[in-house]
Amino acid sequence: MLSSMLKEWGWRCIEADDGTTAVAAVEKHNYDAVLMDIRMVKMDGREAFHKIHAMRPALPVILMTAYSSVDDAVIMIREGAHDYLTKPLDFDRLRLALERAVDHRQVTEKKQQPREQQTTLQTGIIGESPKMQELLEMISYVAPTEATVLVYGESGTGKELVAEALHSNSERKGGPFIKVNCAALAESLLESELFGHEKGAFTGADRERDGKFVQADGGTLFLDEIGETSQAMQVKLLRVLQEHELQRVGGEKTIQVDVRIIAATNRNLEDEVKTGNFREDLYYRLNVVMLEVPPLRTRAGDIPLLVNHFVRKFAEKNRRSVQSVIPECMEALNSYPWPGNVRELENAIERGIILMRGDQLTQKSLPLSVQNYKRQSAPEADTEPASLYEAEKRLVIETLAKTEGNKSEAARRLGITRKTLQNKLNKYDEE
Ligand SMILES: Nc1ncnc2c1ncn2[C@@H]1O[C@H](COP(=O)(O)OP(=O)(O)OP(=O)(O)O)[C@@H](O)[C@H]1O
Ligand SMILES: [Mg+2]
Repeated sequence: MLSSMLKEWGWRCIEADDGTTAVAAVEKHNYDAVLMDIRMVKMDGREAFHKIHAMRPALPVILMTAYSSVDDAVIMIREGAHDYLTKPLDFDRLRLALERAVDHRQVTEKKQQPREQQTTLQTGIIGESPKMQELLEMISYVAPTEATVLVYGESGTGKELVAEALHSNSERKGGPFIKVNCAALAESLLESELFGHEKGAFTGADRERDGKFVQADGGTLFLDEIGETSQAMQVKLLRVLQEHELQRVGGEKTIQVDVRIIAATNRNLEDEVKTGNFREDLYYRLNVVMLEVPPLRTRAGDIPLLVNHFVRKFAEKNRRSVQSVIPECMEALNSYPWPGNVRELENAIERGIILMRGDQLTQKSLPLSVQNYKRQSAPEADTEPASLYEAEKRLVIETLAKTEGNKSEAARRLGITRKTLQNKLNKYDEE
């Protein structure tokens, strides 16, 4: 009953029947919180808590206890448990305790999601900026359908994450999610990788083998970097998409497949169609729905969220305790344009965590490109600002772009009042 209620509140909930199972689960996965009885079979709550706490000291554990064993709960709080609730449970308190238990960022993230998404959409995608919220909303509409989806975005923006979200929020989620990187293999290898081959189809084919399409039967096939495929391969792909059937390399037999296709590309396929590099018919087959993943520089508001997420991830992975990211460091991370998008940010944080001294992340642990960025002039501007006024104007406009037009936020970042900002904008308008 608790589990279904938690789901309704937007949590993903994994159940464990006893302490032993819980400890094993915590060992394998990284949860936001543990909600636990004290009296349990096999391994009791106190022992389980000790094991969990030793493994993941930062993981909040909330205890549920009968009045008769509140004493135990209080001892466990001293030992590092996060909170306890007495039975019968007060559900409002439970909800509050859980929300408080995870960090503030996640709480706000969950609250700001529309109710619909809160109950249905499960993704590892972090982002509260309007652009990401829009994308998440699109995902929630498209995921449950059978539509072929084309995910478009620069390198490192999270295309694969979007593909996974589409699969795991679809009816096919119980089925396989199979990935193929179309750019990683030579054409002949890609063909047998995708369609499989018969025994003796080519040298080294000493037995028949199923391709990724067959492996993905009943599930989703993710064709990454679809823009890199040859014309010949595009014809073959088109056929499977149209007929839902294929033949192995060197084979005659027709094999039926039931596969949903999600493709990704960092090329503008419409342009590729115009220049004749990509078949128009395949483009229309793939592009039933297009989801565009925005580059990180256009959603700078998401940077702090991502930073905190990655700090936590890599602190845990590298067993380092990180108390905070100092403001100057966050500032540097915020102003860098991240040409390699989220992947570049993720790598920068991992490196920073490994190199850091003490328990605060400072600019010194960031890559030089990020450290030095602020000292350079704005990259978009191809001329030096002629005057202080000109430089200020540029900064104001850039900041406004970064906050996606949010004037209060822009004013805050610029260290001026909203009214002052408005006056400046009026002046620019007049000009
Ligand atoms: N919004 C996000 N929230 C959390 N993690 C993210 C987000 N976007 C990307 N990531 C992480 O950044 C890394 C790069 O993402 P991903 O592999 O999905 O990008 P991609 O668009 O497929 O890149 P490429 O074009 O280079 O293949 C991954 O480790 C992913 O988990
Ligand atoms: Mg990718």
